[in-house]
Amino acid sequence: MDILHIIRTRRSVGKVRSELPARADIEAMLEAATYAPNHHKVEPWRFIVLTGAGRDHLADVWADIERGKHADPTSDAAQRAAAGVRAKAYRAPVIIVAIAEPPSGPKVVATENTEAVAAAIQNMLLVAGSRSLGAMWRTGEVAYDPRTKAAFGLPPDHAIVGFIYVGYPAAEPSPRHLAPHHAKTDWWGDGWENES
Ligand SMILES: Cc1cc2nc3c(=O)[nH]c(=O)nc-3n(C[C@H](O)[C@H](O)[C@H](O)COP(=O)(O)O)c2cc1C
Repeated sequence: MDILHIIRTRRSVGKVRSELPARADIEAMLEAATYAPNHHKVEPWRFIVLTGAGRDHLADVWADIERGKHADPTSDAAQRAAAGVRAKAYRAPVIIVAIAEPPSGPKVVATENTEAVAAAIQNMLLVAGSRSLGAMWRTGEVAYDPRTKAAFGLPPDHAIVGFIYVGYPAAEPSPRHLAPHHAKTDWWGDGWENES
C-alpha cells in the first residue's frame, strides 16, 4: 500500500469496540515505533501495553488524582467525578503508554527524546490505520502528573508522551478540513521552474 495513501487515510478514532485486537497487530505497531528517528541513537522510547485489568492502574491513579481536587475527597461529588475519570481508562481494549526516557548522556537533549517518541507514536498510528485498527493519541494533564508516572514505576524525569488507545473502530470519524501543504510552506531558491 502506498505510504501517502496510509498517511492521508489515517484518522484518530476515539470510539472503538471492546474486543481485543490481535496481539500481532499491536506488536507490529510497537516494531514500527522502534524504527523512528532519534538523535544520538539512544532509542529513548519505552512502552507499556495495558489490556484488561492492566488498565486498572490508570483508572486507579486517575481516580485518585480527581478525588484529590476536591476539598473533601470522600464526598459524593468527588466520588462521582472520580468514577467519570475512571471510565476513561476503559475506552479502548488496548492502551499503549508511550514514554520518553531522560537523557542518557551529556549530549542528549530531553526535548529531542520526546520528539523521537512522538515520531514513534506516529509510526504506530500509521500501522494501526493500515491494519484497519482505530487508534487515538491522548494526553491531558494526567499524562504529565508525577502520580501517573509513579503508578507505572516511572521517575519524574521520564515523560509520558502519549496514551495510545487502540481497538476496532466503532464509529466513523467526522470529515476533516486540513490546510493544504502549500498554505504552510514557503519555497526559497530555484531549480524547479519547469515544474508546477
Ligand atoms: C500530543 C498530542 C496530544 C493529544 N491529546 C489529545 C487528548 O488528550 N484528547 C483528544 O481528544 N485529542 C488529543 N489529541 C488529538 C488527537 O489525537 C487527533 O490527532 C486530533 O483529534 C486530530 O484528528 P486526526 O488525527 O484524525 O486528524 C492529541 C494530539 C497530540 C499530537
